[in-house]
Amino acid sequence: MTDPATAPGSARQKIDTSVPHSARIWNYWLGGKDNYPVDEEAGDAYTAVFPGIVAIARSSRAFLRRNITYLAGEQGIRQFLDIGTGLPTADNTHQVAQRIAPESRIVYVDNDPMVLAHARALLYSTPEGATAYVDANVLEPERILEAASGTLDFSRPTALILSNILGHIADFDEARSVVERLTAALPSGSFLSVNDGSRGIDPVFEQAQDAYNSSGAVPYNLRTVEQITSFFDGLELVEPGVVSVQQWRPEADAPEPEIIAEHGGLARKP
Ligand SMILES: C[S@@+](CC[C@H](N)C(=O)[O-])C[C@H]1O[C@@H](n2cnc3c(N)ncnc32)[C@H](O)[C@@H]1O
Repeated sequence: MTDPATAPGSARQKIDTSVPHSARIWNYWLGGKDNYPVDEEAGDAYTAVFPGIVAIARSSRAFLRRNITYLAGEQGIRQFLDIGTGLPTADNTHQVAQRIAPESRIVYVDNDPMVLAHARALLYSTPEGATAYVDANVLEPERILEAASGTLDFSRPTALILSNILGHIADFDEARSVVERLTAALPSGSFLSVNDGSRGIDPVFEQAQDAYNSSGAVPYNLRTVEQITSFFDGLELVEPGVVSVQQWRPEADAPEPEIIAEHGGLARKP
């Protein structure tokens, strides 16, 4: 059988190793190996200005893990739509959810060919549950919902995960529109989880991000805490609301949370 990841015109063949990519740099900061010299160089140039990005990347993965644990463990959520998945890492959404509830169903969405090439690692589901991968752009919510409906039943509560992806949508109103169109398709009792790099907390972070954005890489737009909070308009924020990610329901044995420039929250659709 032809491997879709390596066939002519396939994801692996479309991988551009001449410019840094968000998923690969993120993987580098998380300590992964799925990146190229160009990503390492861009990642190192960034940390030379702002070493705190590594803590931001790792803290936001920990935030995601606590979100999924809460959703599966305390809210009985069994369906997850994770858009802007990134390269497989430790504790991907399905692993966290299926550890708690093996019947959980997860759809991952990303538009990076490298993520597509590695998607197989995201597809090792429990037999009771299901995982699927959709190669799509977040700017096409209707297409994503249509493709995901093969795995997820959108008449049942579903958690929508948007972790460090909305900053890739340059226009704030467009980002809000994408979130609204996605959440509109979900029933009452569904949840929205968002976390994103925040502006107005750390000027050195903003300086590093501005330099990165002008380097030829796909830019990432930091948003103010008010802007991040507004993604949850019309929804009921779970305590403690939108906070710096280490402050969101820290585990009992966690070190004292620090305020870092990455904010997130979780909210229920009434
Ligand atoms: C910074 S990484 C975040 C990965 C993961 N969600 C996390 O928080 O650890 C951003 C991800 O969004 C993906 N992405 C960027 N623009 C996208 C778009 N327009 N549509 C779909 N995915 C996109 C990138 O390929 C990358 O995997």
